[in-house]
Amino acid sequence: MAGTHVFGEIIDGEVYKYYADGEWKTSASGKSVSIINPTTRKPQFKVQACTQEEVNKVMEAAKVAQKLWARTPLWKRAELLHKAAAILKEHKSPIAECLVKEIAKPARDAVTEVVRSGDLVSYTAEEGVRVLGEGKFLVSDSFPGNERTKYCLSSKIPLGVVLAIPPFNYPVNLAVSKIAPALIAGNALVLKPPTQGAVAALHMIHCFHLAGFPKGLISAVTGKGSEIGDFLTMHPGVNCISFTGGDTGIAISKKAGMIPLQMELGGKDACIVLEDADLDLVAANIVKGGYSYSGQRCTAVKVVLIMDSIADVVIEKVKAKMAKLTVGPPEENCDITPVVTESSANFIEDLVMDAKEKGATFCQEYRREGNLIWPLLLDHVRPDMRIAWEEPFGPVLPVIRITNVEEGIHHCNASNFGLQGCIFTRDINKAIMISDAMETGTVQINSAPARGPDHFPFQGLKESGIGSQGITNTINMMTKIKSTVINLPSASYTIG
Ligand code: G3H
Repeated sequence: MAGTHVFGEIIDGEVYKYYADGEWKTSASGKSVSIINPTTRKPQFKVQACTQEEVNKVMEAAKVAQKLWARTPLWKRAELLHKAAAILKEHKSPIAECLVKEIAKPARDAVTEVVRSGDLVSYTAEEGVRVLGEGKFLVSDSFPGNERTKYCLSSKIPLGVVLAIPPFNYPVNLAVSKIAPALIAGNALVLKPPTQGAVAALHMIHCFHLAGFPKGLISAVTGKGSEIGDFLTMHPGVNCISFTGGDTGIAISKKAGMIPLQMELGGKDACIVLEDADLDLVAANIVKGGYSYSGQRCTAVKVVLIMDSIADVVIEKVKAKMAKLTVGPPEENCDITPVVTESSANFIEDLVMDAKEKGATFCQEYRREGNLIWPLLLDHVRPDMRIAWEEPFGPVLPVIRITNVEEGIHHCNASNFGLQGCIFTRDINKAIMISDAMETGTVQINSAPARGPDHFPFQGLKESGIGSQGITNTINMMTKIKSTVINLPSASYTIG
């Protein structure tokens, strides 16, 4: 159970502690932040409201710990990560329980998130020892005017202190996707978990604590964005920010100093369906892509752009599959569960009502109880409707009928977002041409968008983000290149 047995030390009364200097601590603020269960809409957990002074201390400790960590052999860093991964998987049940209660993730998916996270940490350890174990050796005489009098050794060195800010929808997986690369690359790590999902993230951090990482190297601070949000992201002790979330990321990018940023800020992933597609495959992927975790994935299918001639058939197939989706509490493994907050539900409802007023066809009756919104497909959506462009982050999916593929590409590219997109066609040549034309970080051919497997490069264009994620890219992003040049008194040619 959450907060008991090995996790007993991370809670003080009914408030979860924050993690600093290798210990679980109670904030001097004496204040806490409540986490509302999206299903019951009642307070479920409380976390510490950390102060700016506590953030300062965390940063100081991180700086000191990082210097020693950077001198710790790669194989030892990897060994500790493997240990943390095993502990994480061993304790998947209490962590998954938090995900169910904090973010209403269906129980089975919650367990999957924790296991996937353990695998991600192990893979990162393995990848890190190879990627970071190699550098470059250059000689000077390949550049005009030079003899071979200089040897350049270039290697990767850590950035320093990495600030990780994951989103509510994957508070464990998208935290470890930042934590593990940061650590294997020799950085210290400060985690600011999302409020919804904070307790799952604190349990995950405890697994790293149990693995035995040095004091101060990893910390997790919780609290109000108004008190510590900007303070953290603008802190002079931070050398890199890895953020996943909404458009707060744009504000962070503008305020952050001259440090590397990795940002993933959502998407409006288009699904373009051509006449020659396998229509059963299309329907299955629209339902999986549009409605899994109630549409609360940045990579969810968020607009279907379908050739008018096949739209009726596909919509009937989609409706038949949607009728089988179960709706209810996450504890019962329902497909559709309550969305994360009441304000999210209100936002989704506003988009739906706007589409209704402007004449969209509802394929099902709109229904909502509290934060629970029944899955809805909206046909005949037009570009003047908000839902054609905005990201609902809920189980409501617009369909726009098109008469040629150029219309589909145009709609996809007119979006402010550019995360992923997908195309359904049996003609691979056509698929490649369309993929080339789509301004998105990834295009999936004949499958719904998805981030994983976690070692694939994952990136967004335009307002969807900065930089590329995926295990290898994140390790590289969290390092910088250092060159050491050996200047020889005379030219040295190793061959003849
Ligand atoms: O919500 C954003 C995530 O990166 C999506 O990950 O494709 O594995 O659901 P996913």
